[in-house]
Amino acid sequence: MLASRRILLIVGGGIAAYKALDLIRRLRERGAEVVPVLTRGGAEFVTPLSVSALAGRKVFSDLFDLTDEAEMGHIELSRSADLIVVAPATADLMAKMAHGHADDLASTLLLATDTPVLLAPAMNVRMWQHPATQRNIATLKADGIGFVGPDVGDMACGEHGPGRLAEVPQIVDAIGAALADGPLAGRRVLLTSGPTHEPIDPVRYIANRSSGAQGAAIARELAALGAEVVFVTGPATVPPPGGVEVIRVETAQEMLAAVEGALPADAAIFAAAVADWRVVGASTRKIKKGAGGTPALEFAENPDILATVSAMEAGRPRLVVGFAAETCDVIGHATAKRARKGCDWIVANDVSHATGIMGGTENAVTLITGDGEEEWPRMGKREVARKLAERVARALA
Ligand code: CTP
Repeated sequence: MLASRRILLIVGGGIAAYKALDLIRRLRERGAEVVPVLTRGGAEFVTPLSVSALAGRKVFSDLFDLTDEAEMGHIELSRSADLIVVAPATADLMAKMAHGHADDLASTLLLATDTPVLLAPAMNVRMWQHPATQRNIATLKADGIGFVGPDVGDMACGEHGPGRLAEVPQIVDAIGAALADGPLAGRRVLLTSGPTHEPIDPVRYIANRSSGAQGAAIARELAALGAEVVFVTGPATVPPPGGVEVIRVETAQEMLAAVEGALPADAAIFAAAVADWRVVGASTRKIKKGAGGTPALEFAENPDILATVSAMEAGRPRLVVGFAAETCDVIGHATAKRARKGCDWIVANDVSHATGIMGGTENAVTLITGDGEEEWPRMGKREVARKLAERVARALA
């Protein structure tokens, strides 16, 4: 997908600029051509020599370099790429973009281009959260600019929160998704993934062993086939791929609200391991040991998200796919589940402990459709995801 694609990579200023060097390597390994642009700030963190050595070509760095203008004007430079990627994208560069400034090479290229643009922001958490930055992000999103990250985590400045540059594989995925022109181009696919957490009190919750690995893999493969993917995820241990819109939720009720808010979609795939029950009247204070004895928990049934969407009269996605995690009589239970929930397909799998599937890297599934069952051999979750994405593409064709 990246072979022979031309990516104009703008490296902004910031400690994360060093990761742009690895990004260049990974993109070139996949056959992409990387045309690097180093901002003045970027050049404080990585040298033009290392950038051009890795890119295998000259680095552009100054708007008023007359030799560059003679060889290739900035307008042409901005339009000759298949995609413009800014990594790291600083708060300052995003502010310039949002307001249409063009006072250096990077901002001029970004203003002059008609090529899709993907930003990988990196900045201090307070800068990210500042209303000015958030306003600029909203403006840029409305302008059709794509984003990957930032991640949440420890930062070089010692603070913690959102603002870390997305990991390089995530940026590569997002670039692949932005350039994808596969059979799902123009299709919107909604996907739920991961476990849900149902609170008992502010510090305790009921969860399950889902890692979110299968859902993340499906999201990546759908995006690789060109789909616009909305990824509604509970607190999973496997991070979401780049190139998809991520909506994070905790509980089943939040997941249903997020799904309803994300519709309409051409297809919806429900890979989340949703908790069947929630605790009634979860305590707002930590439950203490002591006089009250052992606490008794009362449960209420959670909404069934898959069944709710399957039963929608208006706006039901054309294809609704559920998963059935079973520990015995897998096909029997899954076939009954397909009928009970009203979905089009069920991906059935055996999650009994001995299979090692829940939380593992492999999966053995049977696809149950209106035409019968199809047993797939045991394979990696990524291969299962690819096969499923291809089937979805065929169904929506
Ligand atoms: N599901 C859902 N909302 C729920 C429960 C399940 O959307 N509240 C979806 C899951 O994402 C999956 C499918 O329904 O696609 C089946 O989930 P599973 O846990 O296997 O089924 P349950 O409905 O929980 O049935 P049971 O407990 O009887 O196995």
